[in-house]
Amino acid sequence: NIVPVILCGGSGTRLWPLSRAGFPKQFLCLTGNNSLFQQAAQRLSGLGQTHRLSPLLLVCNEEHRFLAAEQLREAGLALGAALLEPIGRNTAPALTLAALSALQSGQDPVMVVTPADQAITDDHSFTEAIGLAVARAAQDEIVILGITPDRPETGYGYIHAVPAQTPHSDGGQQSVLQVQRFVEKPDAETAQSYLEKGGYYWNAGMFVLKASVWLKALTQFRPDILRATEEAWEQGSADGAFVRPHKDLFDTIPAESIDYAVIEHCPGTVPISMVPLNAGWSDLGAWDAVWNVLPKDENGNAYAGDVLTANSRNTLVHASSRLVGVVGVDDLIVVETPDAVLVAHRNQSQQVKNIVNQLDAQG
Ligand code: GDD
Ligand code: MG
Repeated sequence: NIVPVILCGGSGTRLWPLSRAGFPKQFLCLTGNNSLFQQAAQRLSGLGQTHRLSPLLLVCNEEHRFLAAEQLREAGLALGAALLEPIGRNTAPALTLAALSALQSGQDPVMVVTPADQAITDDHSFTEAIGLAVARAAQDEIVILGITPDRPETGYGYIHAVPAQTPHSDGGQQSVLQVQRFVEKPDAETAQSYLEKGGYYWNAGMFVLKASVWLKALTQFRPDILRATEEAWEQGSADGAFVRPHKDLFDTIPAESIDYAVIEHCPGTVPISMVPLNAGWSDLGAWDAVWNVLPKDENGNAYAGDVLTANSRNTLVHASSRLVGVVGVDDLIVVETPDAVLVAHRNQSQQVKNIVNQLDAQG
């Protein structure tokens, strides 16, 4: 059996004002009729055509449990369990909860762990890549998925991967590469140099690995995170599908991502390989990425809601509650909601989180 896991406890601040603390971006319908979370769940359930799948495991914030459960119900998908965090401690503790939960079955299943903030256009290629990854993960390797980069984006992990030297039981297929190096969120200059050198991929943010392999790697690199998360888990409680680690103990867990806590340290120490993913992947981290994936008119404008434009180009206008008119501007992001309006230059859309930080500072 493989255990599908969705990490959906992020806050999505760069997509303000549509994405809010009570309703973060993964639960929004940004592209089409389903939310990003629903799309992630549907993609994983599609793996059931080629694999035996355990029920879906979510790791999310306590505050979003009904939102997540309702969206699954709406999409006709079943919930196995939702592991509820009282507060975000980033993805390393979240994956640790998932691994501890998966091991309760008495087995040591391969987990297919995906984020909830991405769009993928080619489900068939996704399923194929995951199939290769699962086969490799069953042999106790950590498997990550790599995207061919087309710009020096600094918000991603970079993977240096080369064809494996020794043929593996997949017949030495070129489609599984050996990871030589992993660098999370390099600066712009470093990212540019990787792009020029070649042989580097973006980390897609998906992790395919056995529960025990994760716990073992964490013991090696961050025993503090493992210990604290285990304690919170052991003292936790369950209420049907809702499973809660102990609140006060959870608060004490160091916040760290999977990438920084473990993956960066693996090459050369822990077997780790990469499967290239060519499936129309995009991370919808900020508004320019949303503009990128949306259908556009002949002037490159993308709209949602009640919008009129004249003489404008390459602009995204999202109207939620009013008619919005945009005239004579290029490369803008305009997002209207009942209580907040964002106007931003498209190439500054990463900076939207600064507005949210200022709001937080004001309380
Ligand atoms: N349960 C839980 N708890 N989930 C979380 C938490 C948390 O505290 N923090 C983030 N997540 C979820 C987010 O909702 C998202 O679905 C996923 O975990 C990844 O977190 P992000 O915060 O979006 O990570 P990132 O985009 O900065 O970086 C990761 O993804 C990139 C690709 O999109 C890394 O894995 C990079 O290496 C990768 O390139
Ligand atoms: Mg992300």
